[in-house]
Amino acid sequence: MEIRFAGVTKQFPPDIVAIQDIFLTISKGEFVYLVGPTGSGKTTILRTVTRELLPTKGQVTVGDVNIRKMSSYDLAYLRRDIGVVFQDFRLLPSLTVYENIAFVQEDIGVPPADVKKRTNDVLDRLGLWRRRFLYPEQISGGEQQRAAIGRAIANSPSVLLADEPTGNLDIHTAEEIMQLLLSINASGTTVVVATHNQHIVDAYKQRVVELRKGRIVRDEKKGRYEVDGDL
Ligand SMILES: Nc1ncnc2c1ncn2[C@@H]1O[C@H](COP(=O)(O)OP(=O)(O)OP(=O)(O)O)[C@@H](O)[C@H]1O
Ligand SMILES: [Mg+2]
Repeated sequence: MEIRFAGVTKQFPPDIVAIQDIFLTISKGEFVYLVGPTGSGKTTILRTVTRELLPTKGQVTVGDVNIRKMSSYDLAYLRRDIGVVFQDFRLLPSLTVYENIAFVQEDIGVPPADVKKRTNDVLDRLGLWRRRFLYPEQISGGEQQRAAIGRAIANSPSVLLADEPTGNLDIHTAEEIMQLLLSINASGTTVVVATHNQHIVDAYKQRVVELRKGRIVRDEKKGRYEVDGDL
């Protein structure tokens, strides 16, 4: 699924311009980092892709559909085909790791036998098999992040959006998460990662889209976190 922003501005009342005049095309199968200082508009971009937010101006197209003109059927389909990993995980505290990953599948009507198989596959792939019957509060931050990624990929989405997936993790765990995201990308999923993690961006070179005050100031293939001399 291609994601396309054509002249997109999002203004919050009364006059906070979160993103401004964004032109951006992310092709199917790409891996993109969204970088930029706090408040520069990274999360806002992700939230317009899922149609949590509608642009004030301009068009966002996901696949063939303009999100502004989406029917409720299209929207349900879109949300099923986009996996989202939030910075604060948002795992359900009263469900085990297994149940957190299974329920998003049950929610869209995957048959029970398939839910079991897929959940077990995801748990295995994420290295969470031995943690599957524990609750979020009983596992580490890195494990919670992996469980959140597991939940996001359980329905095999075309697109994975990850907001600060390595926030609050040590370098080693952040690298593990990054390798997981790269392997998900290698299997064909488009991956967009909003991040402040300079080490990760510089170590695993991918396309870098840099935002400043809501505008794109750089879009570079195999970029670094900061351009040289910009320190
Ligand atoms: N719902 C909202 N209502 C009002 N202003 C908002 C809302 N959401 C975001 N903003 C503002 O829009 C700007 C961009 O916010 P956004 O969350 O996209 O930044 P960000 O790049 O993700 O920052 P961070 O790195 O801190 O997560 C900020 O100034 C923020 O205060
Ligand atoms: Mg953010």
